[in-house]
Amino acid sequence: MARFYITTPIYYVNAAPHLGTFYTTVVADALARYHRTQGDETFFVTGLDEHGQKIERIARARGMEPQAYCDEIAATFAEAWKIAEISNDDFIRTTSLRHQTAAAEMWARMHAAGDIYAADYDGMYCVGCEDWKSEDDVVVEAGEKICPIHRRPVERVKEKNYFFRLSNFADRLLALYETPGFIRPESRRNEVASFVRGGLKDISVSRMKKSVNWGIAVPGDPDHVIYVWIDALINYLTVLGGPDAVAHGGIEQATWRTAHHLIAKDILRFHAVYWPALLMSAGLPMPAGVFCHGYLTVKGQKISKSMPATRVDPQAIASDLGVEPLRYFVLREYTLGGDGDFTYEALLQRYESDLGNDLGNLLNRTVSMAHRFQGGHVEAYEPTDADASEEVVKIGRSWVIRTAGANWKEFSPAQALEACWKLIREANRYIDAKKPWELGKNPQRATGPGSLNAVLAICGEALRTTARLIAPAMPGTARKILHQLGRPEAEADSWPTDGEFAWPGGRMETPEPLFPRLDPDKKAGLIAKWLPTEPTGGDPSTIATTARTTPATAVGSPPAATSSSTIAATAGPGTNAADALVDKADFDRVDLRAARVVACERVPKTDKLLKLTLDIGSEQRTVISGIAAAFAPETLLGRTVMYVANLKPAKIRGVVSQGMILTAGD
Ligand code: ME8
Ligand code: MG
Repeated sequence: MARFYITTPIYYVNAAPHLGTFYTTVVADALARYHRTQGDETFFVTGLDEHGQKIERIARARGMEPQAYCDEIAATFAEAWKIAEISNDDFIRTTSLRHQTAAAEMWARMHAAGDIYAADYDGMYCVGCEDWKSEDDVVVEAGEKICPIHRRPVERVKEKNYFFRLSNFADRLLALYETPGFIRPESRRNEVASFVRGGLKDISVSRMKKSVNWGIAVPGDPDHVIYVWIDALINYLTVLGGPDAVAHGGIEQATWRTAHHLIAKDILRFHAVYWPALLMSAGLPMPAGVFCHGYLTVKGQKISKSMPATRVDPQAIASDLGVEPLRYFVLREYTLGGDGDFTYEALLQRYESDLGNDLGNLLNRTVSMAHRFQGGHVEAYEPTDADASEEVVKIGRSWVIRTAGANWKEFSPAQALEACWKLIREANRYIDAKKPWELGKNPQRATGPGSLNAVLAICGEALRTTARLIAPAMPGTARKILHQLGRPEAEADSWPTDGEFAWPGGRMETPEPLFPRLDPDKKAGLIAKWLPTEPTGGDPSTIATTARTTPATAVGSPPAATSSSTIAATAGPGTNAADALVDKADFDRVDLRAARVVACERVPKTDKLLKLTLDIGSEQRTVISGIAAAFAPETLLGRTVMYVANLKPAKIRGVVSQGMILTAGD
């Protein structure tokens, strides 16, 4: 029996799904749905990557236990994937017990093979990437080493780590890449092969528990946790019962050998270099391969959680337009493998033309005419030799079925859908040419060749074929089409038979527009609603960088201790402000102004507090600020500071402090 196992990356729980994660997940879903129509034993898994420093810090910054935080985000993902009609067969979370067991098994296998050893590590780490960095990977800005991806300083890690002997696997990896299709597209294969040819160093595969607590303990050494990336990759085996079950053979191994890892290029090295090497070490067979797609971008910038300006919210779009137009759009618009820019205008364009004018219109014309002229009945009809010369019949009978199938099989959703639209457009052209409304005016009971019934039957069959071919992309739409045609909706689950193009006969339901028209005002309104609230954006991790370089001191009212600890929790050294994100709407409520210090003195009997008089243009304000250790009062006189004007006043040492100032210094 043919099997098909497909995975998405397990996403970090550092934010809700966005268009990038939606994209990978929808592509995997469509491929899984296609394989199910072929009768393949299909296993489709997605899930969440819940361990690591990044997650631990975000949870703490929110004042939550990491597990409680993960549970909350996991619920968000489950809901989002339900709305997106994701048909995954399993959902893996790395904090689950089954995964911890699988990770321990994997470690034990690699350890037994002699590929794991302990050594001292001294190097750089980017928490945003959850990845080690070499000198070549970082840029130096203002004397500080910055991760160019996350725009934040890398951290120095100097501790005992366990290492994996990746350097021993170069030859075997290069041989593996010769397997046709192991890395797709071809350009990615070349990229990976040349990386490996450039020389492989052993990789650190653990962290000291005292620096990273949120992870799976290294078997036999509870002072260490397994490096989050190693932990994460193992998920692909966990869902099959773990490495030992897969090694044992049986269905688990048979399934494993058909695994396709669908990912984007950001994590290619982990999947195409580290992962196969870990599997080789553990004595496990290889998956079928890795398919690497490009980035979706907004104005050329990668859509990512840390770039609010690139935020595209699939759920917001789905709630106005329905999720299927968005599924269709991402599958049809972007050739899987390359990068693609997203615009709302292009989305609405395809909604109107492909879905409304082409598909929706074909269905509406066909079903409406069946009702207008034949009371909804369209008698069974098999195209004759004469009909077979019509493009719509030629294409619909065989070409579209083969072409769409081959393209779904080859991970080319855009081309599969393009083929379907060729059939749809031919069917509309056929109606224009045959003018059934004229045939209808001249009522003839005949149902034979050239009759109105024959024309409607050919259109009905073209639609029935289309519905079944597009079902992997738009399962709900496929069912609606079949329903309107008066066919069993379950036909959407089976692939049409090549060569068999015959309308089975039946009564069509009342026509109902599938993709209602949007007038220009409505379109403009939708786009305005969907746009991120902050049009120009700004990378919050830049703020983190600044905060790290020159720790911000926030003081005033409420009392100093409270406000500065809030800042420390979100932006201080060693924490990750980029991930503890505040909604723009919340931030907008803060009335920030520039204010000039017109008077400044120490508050008697304290060594922390200064009393400042600020000129904010319209009036003067008094602020008590805990910065006496950093600034002598006279050094602040005449200076301009950032002032939070709408903080609730608080009484500090008997003085009413009206707001808070933000300063930076040593
Ligand atoms: O890397 N365009 O998780 P992650 C296209 N936990 N795809 C995008 C995208 C974009 N702009 N942004 C994200 C991790 N993606 C690890 C994975 S797997 C063992 C561990 C998709 O939340 C794409 O699939 O950062 C990318 O590879 C993935 O999300 C990264 O998700
Ligand atoms: Mg990422």
